[in-house]
Amino acid sequence: MKDPRVFNPFYPDKSKDNLLIILGDCGLLWTDKPDKTELFNIKMLDKKPWTTCFLDGNHENHTRLDNLPIIEKWCGKVGQVSESIFHLKRGEIYTFDNKKYFVFGGADSIDKGMRMPLRSWWPREIYSREEENTAFDNLEKHQWNVDYILAHTVPEFLTLKGGPLYNEYYWNSDPTRKLLEHIVYATSFKRFFAGHFHENINFKWNDNKEFHVLDHLGSGFLIL
Ligand SMILES: [Fe+2]
Repeated sequence: MKDPRVFNPFYPDKSKDNLLIILGDCGLLWTDKPDKTELFNIKMLDKKPWTTCFLDGNHENHTRLDNLPIIEKWCGKVGQVSESIFHLKRGEIYTFDNKKYFVFGGADSIDKGMRMPLRSWWPREIYSREEENTAFDNLEKHQWNVDYILAHTVPEFLTLKGGPLYNEYYWNSDPTRKLLEHIVYATSFKRFFAGHFHENINFKWNDNKEFHVLDHLGSGFLIL
């Protein structure tokens, strides 16, 4: 089994069996109807020698994501964008390469006051009660035990004063961070990956749990 690692476009043995996972703020679907940029990017990614997956960040057209056709893939539900591009949905547990990945995207936008609702900011950046229930039901089915957690943001305690992601200028209250904190305390896992913070930070917590905040091309990429 290959451990997830940071994407390198020159990685030699890529094929459609490899997954590129974008940890949110992909923004691939941004306008209400597909525009030239979106069609170009989808065509370009479909031609690449990998399968592209993304979980949602805060900067996404969540209305478009909510309306994607849903199919069963990797033992969970995904939104299908194209032949080889898939949206990983909040609360699902996917099996990639025999390892379990719990996914929970979304985050609060600190700049939403400067954005236009449903044009450049979507309230669905924050999870619904249904998505919270899906997460708890799926974690229960897996006895609260997964190999990896993929999210856009991180558990709240990491952003509080004294935590590695504390920032006194940008602190905001984010329900997704609170929910992730609850999930992290209740779940056994090895490594947690996030994007969102525009920083590369790696650290250990509770002796054996690793946290990786990635900033590759802005939102964190992994390849399996
Ligand atoms: Fe973000």
